[in-house]
Amino acid sequence: MAAYIPEDKITEIKNASDIVAIVSEFVSLRRAGRNFLGSCPFHAEKTPSFTVSPDKQIFYCFGCGAGGNVFSFLMKHQGLTFPEAVRSLANRYGIRLPTRKMSPADKKKLTERESIVTLNGDALKFYRDCLFSKNHGQRAMDYLRERGMRKETIDDFDIGFAPDGWDHLTRFLGKKKRSVTMAALAGLIIPRKKGSPVQGPQEKGQSYYDRFRNRIIFPIFNAQSQPVGFGGRVMDDALPKYLNSPETPVYNKRRSLYGLNRARQQSRQSEAVYVVEGYFDLLTMHQFGISNTVATLGTSLTLEHVQILKGLVGQKGEAILVFDSDQAGVKAAQRSVAVFQKGLLAARVLVLPKDQDPDSFIMKNGAGAFLQIAKDAKGMMDFMVASAIAKYGLTIEGKVRIINDLKDAILAIGDPVERALRVKQLSERMGVEESILLQKVRQGGPVPAKRQWMTGRPDTNPKEHRCVSKPKGETYRLERQMVAMMLQYPEMIPYIAKHRYVTQFADPLLEKIGKGIIDHFAQSGSDVAGLVSRWTDVETKAMVARLSLTDEQWDKDGCMNLINQFHQSIRRRDKSLLQRIEAAEKSGDVELLASLLQEKQHQAQRVTHRHGGADTRLVSTSDDI
Ligand code: UTP
Ligand code: MN
Repeated sequence: MAAYIPEDKITEIKNASDIVAIVSEFVSLRRAGRNFLGSCPFHAEKTPSFTVSPDKQIFYCFGCGAGGNVFSFLMKHQGLTFPEAVRSLANRYGIRLPTRKMSPADKKKLTERESIVTLNGDALKFYRDCLFSKNHGQRAMDYLRERGMRKETIDDFDIGFAPDGWDHLTRFLGKKKRSVTMAALAGLIIPRKKGSPVQGPQEKGQSYYDRFRNRIIFPIFNAQSQPVGFGGRVMDDALPKYLNSPETPVYNKRRSLYGLNRARQQSRQSEAVYVVEGYFDLLTMHQFGISNTVATLGTSLTLEHVQILKGLVGQKGEAILVFDSDQAGVKAAQRSVAVFQKGLLAARVLVLPKDQDPDSFIMKNGAGAFLQIAKDAKGMMDFMVASAIAKYGLTIEGKVRIINDLKDAILAIGDPVERALRVKQLSERMGVEESILLQKVRQGGPVPAKRQWMTGRPDTNPKEHRCVSKPKGETYRLERQMVAMMLQYPEMIPYIAKHRYVTQFADPLLEKIGKGIIDHFAQSGSDVAGLVSRWTDVETKAMVARLSLTDEQWDKDGCMNLINQFHQSIRRRDKSLLQRIEAAEKSGDVELLASLLQEKQHQAQRVTHRHGGADTRLVSTSDDI
């Protein structure tokens, strides 16, 4: 790929770029010695392991193994091709680039995206002009004013108006000699069905009409403030109330957040970001000075959104989800809470008084009142508990349902201390013994001993003691800890998979679970609740739930330490086998020798690939340049 842009240009751009500055636009970084540290934008993590080295101008995540230089970062994070990443940096640093020698495929992609952004820019300007034209835009302007939108807000967010009629924009773009096919790809215009009576500008016999007609237009920008899509609202009760751009090569709903480009600064400063649902909610929040706000725009919140928000507020930051108190709002809040749990970003939920959304609440009560109630926004679990109680009531049947509803969420709490405290709190609230509740959470498995098999320390609780399965020795203990680690610190899974430690397990059940975790992680990431349902047999399910719920605090060092121990135990095992083989050879015990050699061969088959020490780092498989 690099051949399409002269090597010396690439070097020039790389030398001009500051990776810390570039990464900082998306990830909140803090200094840690020679390097900068932040929460990885490419995977969910609790402890920041995403490292940016200003000296080496590279980034590397010790959690997920993503790494590379400033180009790789932009490619991976922004979904750019290599030439696009190079160009975007060249533009930024004012370096001129020849474009002739790109591969046809890259060139097509690049020109496609650039054309769409350009076309969106044209359309944006057109809609703006229409809003300000006495002829077209008066009613729209009145509507915006009625809804309390100030001139600055309208300007800051480039709000516009798509006039009534079938082909105002189509003709405008035609006059500018823009490609009609591109405009259709951008979702701005739509091909007419054959035989339709109305005619407009044509290309190859095909005519088109405007997607947005007689609607207030809200341009949607990406993080670099390029217009990537639009939302359009009617001014009366017509349906649909909002019409949005379709997915295009530059507009991906799973990654887009309205207002993101204007929310950065205040989110950084306050380490908090409000997540609201609608365009007007966002605009009003900003207008009233609460500019650390983004909107999800009718789609449900995705893990990608959470990762972006994490980059915005930093590792210690939080999101405050603001929802309507209606059923749909509460449902949406519940779903979002699960996504935040998965993405490991702290979140609180602010449910507004009945029939209010952020827009109406602030317009009526002011920003002060909003910030006041936001202070008391509930934590995720408290919110879940409260809404389950509201839904089912505290009758016996209700409590059974509540616990059923909440058990997955409890299982998904990443921090074992918090998890234990939640179980305790809920057990008190429901009047159910803690051990019974734990049993329920662990999907009906036997109440396991919490510590003994994790640390080898004798258990202090005799009641739990009798549940400990018969001691199986050091190897078993280590294998079990390895699996627990994979479940509770999934960042390590790629590492463990790569080194094929699991295939060297002696215990078949643990080996099966270990392999399952690796497969599951590759397909669906690290959700334990989903993993548990992978197996049908109770024994496996119970073991997985049990190992997920142990009170272990994992950190990178602890994990590496355990892996090292495991590695050494395998080495000891191999060595003792070799010694026994030697002894058998010496003593001439042919039968024993044969069986030992068979064992050796068996082991060799399991380990087709084994690396040296546990200090071998994860190697990035991504676009290293
Ligand atoms: P609502 O319809 O709940 O907003 O849509 P609302 O508060 O009653 O009306 P306004 O916006 O204050 O006038 C909330 C958000 O859901 C998305 C839009 O992003 C909207 O801002 N939505 C709603 C759609 O995408 N399409 C629709 O048809 C309706
Ligand atoms: Mn509203």
